[in-house]
Amino acid sequence: MTLLFVNACMRGEESNTLALCREYLAARPDAEVEEVNLAELNLKPFDGDMVAYRTEKQEAQAWDDPIFDLAKQIAAADEVLIGAPYWDLSFPAALKTYIEHCSVCELTFHYTEDARCEGLCKATKTTYITTSGGIIGDRNYGYDYVCGIAQMFDLGEMRFVSAEGLDIFGADVESILAKAREDIKQLD
Ligand SMILES: Cc1cc2nc3c(=O)[nH]c(=O)nc-3n(C[C@H](O)[C@H](O)[C@H](O)COP(=O)(O)O)c2cc1C
Repeated sequence: MTLLFVNACMRGEESNTLALCREYLAARPDAEVEEVNLAELNLKPFDGDMVAYRTEKQEAQAWDDPIFDLAKQIAAADEVLIGAPYWDLSFPAALKTYIEHCSVCELTFHYTEDARCEGLCKATKTTYITTSGGIIGDRNYGYDYVCGIAQMFDLGEMRFVSAEGLDIFGADVESILAKAREDIKQLD
């Protein structure tokens, strides 16, 4: 069972989100974890030249080109874990850039003959773990967007865990994180 860990925890070892993701992974010792560390990968957002290059390779069906590696990897994963802190009402830009790299027609999605967009990924579930300084409430734009992409790619059932209010003056950070750890334990 391949578990793809999309690590958008840009603060590395300082990250509370990363600590929660590690709890999730530790509870799945049998999973074959593949980690994509976005802070280290430093992917470039798509510009005109990159789009032209990728279109040329798509048209030639040159699927062995490295430009398709991330799309093929997420398409093949049995399960996905996304760890991303709540930044500017959503998530770090590196995660959006990663999604751009994964969004490839004929690999992660395609169009049916009746022009419906259909996902091609095989994951049965995707878990999104985040932490935030304040309370996310109904401004969960990052997760909402990821749910849209997950529907487009067919990334299975979506689950969300958060530890919120960590930067609020006087917050009991340890108990907020402990509650999130409990929530993670409840996930199958
Ligand atoms: C660049 C940046 C943007 C942030 N934007 C928000 C925000 O919009 N709302 C919020 O509640 N917290 C915001 N925060 C606070 C983080 O969500 C919070 O500190 C989080 O726990 C950091 O996660 P980490 O420990 O995994 O890095 C922001 C922090 C940074 C560094």
